[in-house]
Amino acid sequence: MVKYIRESLLKTPGKPNPPTYGVLQEDGLAEVVRPMGLNESLFEPSPRVLEAIVDNLDKIGRYPDAQPPRLSKKISNIFEIEENLIVWGNGSEELIKGAIDLSVPRGKGLVLPVPTFWGYRSIVAASEAKTKFVNSEDRGLVNVQAIIDEIDKDTHAVICVTPNNPSGFCLSEEEIQKLFFSIDIDTLLIVDEAYCEFGQHAGGPDVLACLKKRKGPWVSIRTFSKSYSMAGMRVGYAICSDTMLADALKKTTCVFNLPILGIVAAAAALDDEDHLKMLMEKVSKGREQLDNGLREMSLSPLLSATNFISVELPVDGKKVAQSMLEKGVQIHAWPDPGYENYIRITIGTAADNSFCLNILKEIL
Ligand SMILES: Cc1ncc(COP(=O)(O)O)c(C=O)c1O
Repeated sequence: MVKYIRESLLKTPGKPNPPTYGVLQEDGLAEVVRPMGLNESLFEPSPRVLEAIVDNLDKIGRYPDAQPPRLSKKISNIFEIEENLIVWGNGSEELIKGAIDLSVPRGKGLVLPVPTFWGYRSIVAASEAKTKFVNSEDRGLVNVQAIIDEIDKDTHAVICVTPNNPSGFCLSEEEIQKLFFSIDIDTLLIVDEAYCEFGQHAGGPDVLACLKKRKGPWVSIRTFSKSYSMAGMRVGYAICSDTMLADALKKTTCVFNLPILGIVAAAAALDDEDHLKMLMEKVSKGREQLDNGLREMSLSPLLSATNFISVELPVDGKKVAQSMLEKGVQIHAWPDPGYENYIRITIGTAADNSFCLNILKEIL
């Protein structure tokens, strides 16, 4: 065993190398494959975002603002939150990692419901937290009581992802209340709201309003990657229950963690509410199209409140995903044990969705 690398990191499985646009490009596939596997947005960001990026291209030699006050001001106004409770991250993943790092010392307890976003596996493995993975019910449905049952005196933080990935399920108002108010007031509640804009558009509960009523510490972590069609810009933010927590979370991040173009892009995106509404409508229509198409194949898609939809197949999901890639559609097969036949499809345009459904039908 080497001395200069922490043991937990040596034991952590290597980071996955997701099949991004760049990877597809290297393989000569970027222009021929529809990217419906990474929950990116297949819709254009606001034209104001593109304009802001172009207008600021000559600024890339300058350092970006640290914890950009102009963005905090906007979020503060939208969600009626004090500016000093907002923390910015290089995508929401940096903030998830930071929230775990700040709260869970080596060997202490963290509760994480699974299946969830694959990024958590390597974050918790590297963290040295004693993680209790709470298995979901059939079809990836989170069991709130099972999470509560796993919390004990040793638990420093509890993670709740709603709407969840890869199931797409949104917890109900009753479920979030039950969970949020069962967790001790000295335990950190980390709520991953990467898909919150879709969740609320689909009629899901106002999680932030419920968090504001909780007496103990909490952090809601969000992103511009999904609803704002800006995954490549790497902008995420957290809303914290108190300044002590926000200050601690800031300490886990690098000083210049947001790219200068990401900052101007996020500011422009927040100024274009109409575009966000339009994107939500498009995703909702696309989801209905995929849901109907999958049902026409006698499949039973999971009820999704997000920009993706999952479904159990009668055959192995990985094999289907590989065959679909060869035919021009990249989708995702759930990597979680027990869910080998599940695939997840990112919602695309009407043309993307029809193409994907036809290929899937042909393969099945
Ligand atoms: C539930 C969830 N949380 C967080 C992330 C990370 O997103 P980002 O780092 O792009 O903000 C993802 C990405 O797919 C996700 O699905």
